[in-house]
Amino acid sequence: MRDPAQTVMRRIEALARISDEPGRLTRTFCSPAMRKANKLVGSWMRQAGMKVRQDAIGNLIGHYPARDQKSSQLFLLGSHLDTVRDAGKFDGPLGVLIAIACVQRLFEKKTRLPFAIEIIGFSDEEGVRYQSAYLGSKVLAGTFSRKALTRTDANGVTMAQAIRSFGGNPDGLAAARLDPKRLLGYAEVHIEQGPVLEQKRLSVGVVTAIAGQTRLQLTFTGRAGHAGTTPMHLRRDALCAAAEFVLAAESLAKNRTGLVATVGEITALPGASNVIPGHVRLSLDVRHPKDAVRQAAVAELKKRATAIAAKRNVGLDWQPVHQTRAVTCDRHLSSLLSKAVKHRQRKLVLLHSGAGHDAAAMADTTPVTMLFVRCKNGISHHPDESASVKDVRIAISVMNDFIRLLN
Ligand code: HGY
Ligand code: MN
Ligand code: MN
Repeated sequence: MRDPAQTVMRRIEALARISDEPGRLTRTFCSPAMRKANKLVGSWMRQAGMKVRQDAIGNLIGHYPARDQKSSQLFLLGSHLDTVRDAGKFDGPLGVLIAIACVQRLFEKKTRLPFAIEIIGFSDEEGVRYQSAYLGSKVLAGTFSRKALTRTDANGVTMAQAIRSFGGNPDGLAAARLDPKRLLGYAEVHIEQGPVLEQKRLSVGVVTAIAGQTRLQLTFTGRAGHAGTTPMHLRRDALCAAAEFVLAAESLAKNRTGLVATVGEITALPGASNVIPGHVRLSLDVRHPKDAVRQAAVAELKKRATAIAAKRNVGLDWQPVHQTRAVTCDRHLSSLLSKAVKHRQRKLVLLHSGAGHDAAAMADTTPVTMLFVRCKNGISHHPDESASVKDVRIAISVMNDFIRLLN
């Protein structure tokens, strides 16, 4: 009998070879690599007895029918298939592949449940291409804002064009929403992306809450000039203003418990070594388990950015790009998941997630629960990201038990 955990690990490796960039794993929204990934994962869903479709925004959806074809009730499993740049192999795909392993088991045992199961491979959780996360899950949850369709990527391609050329339908997004009355809930398996399970020497843990996040795009506008002839006191150096702000954000976050602030992207223009940067664009990502603390921190950072810009006589444009509230996982679903964890691992640990997940967007339409899997040294969003086959095996058993408890 094949070991489902070994199958998951083999498929993780196969998916990791599908990238938009040579030599590293980067698979972004509606990209050629995403098309190939959907095709491969779709074939695995079919092997598990599922009917497969791709919805209007490129979500890959496998449907495992209920015992009674007339039942319209649905339980959702899944995670995302897109990645960050130079990504690890597990962030996203692990949740989709474990879900397929569970349905494969039902299929091989010819077991049907009183409800159908749908596994979602979400098309964009990370928000790399358009800086707006959860595009796929927001469409299913009915919270997608059509305004986002006019966003352009680094090559000036609008989101609507990207969806269309991928084979999706930007005019069909509202109709792609899943009817909340049909939904029994959503469960997502994901690597922890942090150190807690490793410190506690546990394979899996149950997530209690997901931190809220605010993502912004800041632009400092000074004046480009000659690096050799412009005296220091006459400069309006946009990069020095941005650099002072980056350190201000770091120091604020260091002084507020539970707050994290990150500048992950920065572009200095015109981008020549002998030209003073006149135009600097940077991303800002702010998170906290409590929404009020996060929002106060964002307001404080805006004040500090404005003061730095005024002092340096540069302009500041402050654009919120994406915001999700903190989400509490559903008590009933999490109690079933906890029961399954105690059965398989004896010890149960509950932990909150600093990382965002599609479950945060799905919580707007249905109860959600999440299972975390230990990952080596808590590393994620990095090629060294890894999980062990032993922990994956326990996660699969827990999810099989969880599905049985749903019954
Ligand atoms: O950024 C995050 O928290 C997640 O990995 N998308
Ligand atoms: Mn993820
Ligand atoms: Mn991620």
